[in-house]
Amino acid sequence: MERVEVSAPGKLMLFGEHAVVYGRPCIVTAVDHRMRVAVEIADGDNLELYAPDVDVVGYVERMNNLGGKEAPKGTRFVSVAVRNFFNSFGIKSGLKIETRSDFSSEFGFGSSSAVTVGVIKALSEVFEKPLDNKKIFNLSYNTILDVQGVGSGFDVAAAIWGGTIYFVTGGKKIEPLAVSELPLVVGYTGVKADTPTLVRQVANFYEENKGLVGKIFDSVGDITKESRKALLKGDYKRLGKLMDENQVLLEKLRIGSPELSNLILAARKGGAYGAKLSGAGGGDCMIAFVPKDSAKLVEKTIEEKGGKIINVRTGARGVRLED
Ligand code: MEV
Repeated sequence: MERVEVSAPGKLMLFGEHAVVYGRPCIVTAVDHRMRVAVEIADGDNLELYAPDVDVVGYVERMNNLGGKEAPKGTRFVSVAVRNFFNSFGIKSGLKIETRSDFSSEFGFGSSSAVTVGVIKALSEVFEKPLDNKKIFNLSYNTILDVQGVGSGFDVAAAIWGGTIYFVTGGKKIEPLAVSELPLVVGYTGVKADTPTLVRQVANFYEENKGLVGKIFDSVGDITKESRKALLKGDYKRLGKLMDENQVLLEKLRIGSPELSNLILAARKGGAYGAKLSGAGGGDCMIAFVPKDSAKLVEKTIEEKGGKIINVRTGARGVRLED
């Protein structure tokens, strides 16, 4: 096969962010906004990259210098994924890669992990090196760590397996949960958060006060375990309460923001069962579990406070080949 196209979903963190970097579990759901990756074998030994969503059009890198620090930010996950894949199979080839996203990289939906998973999967198809999900996970997760140095890998798992997943740091546990589509409202604050910066900020806080912060992580872990049970029962009212409790702990980790608080309070006022930030914090999106008949009102109250509603369907399919 000379050319293949694959797609991988974005994600939303439901419970357990930050604590999952420290060995506690989290719950993530894949969303129906997808990253598309097309890989084509080319002559020569260059990687030619088209990623118009991040203003990269026809960027050329030498295969023996992939992922150099001088490369544009939006290209590094792609070129380091290629480097890691080629190194593990001893492959040398020229390539042309195009990426296209259904969603803005501003939302915090995991465009870096989705693109990384997409590239690894597409390369395994084009070079006929079949990889199971765990092998795709290991190659993709190592790529994320090579590029940004930090991360639990939950977003990589969501992009590969899809659905809704109970996940423990580094893929120690990846448990797909048998749940139907979730009644979630998602509001974007309009503020872009930088995940590695926020992860480092929490790491500094942990260094300053291991006792206190460690206890917060434990409590977040307990909430996540409870949420797993409530999800399996479809108890959205309980899940809303657990979201509120998780949010209190995230604020104690100092990763809340005025914009997030405004939207979270608005969602609760509009009748949500509960609401919290989703992801690294500091901006990006908030999420709320809502009774079906209150969804419209919750959306309206969020919009009145300046939030942008992002329509998503949860539990989307994991990485797959496109025709
Ligand atoms: C960011 O979306 C979630 C964090 O827990 C980081 C991670 O798990 O990689 C803050």
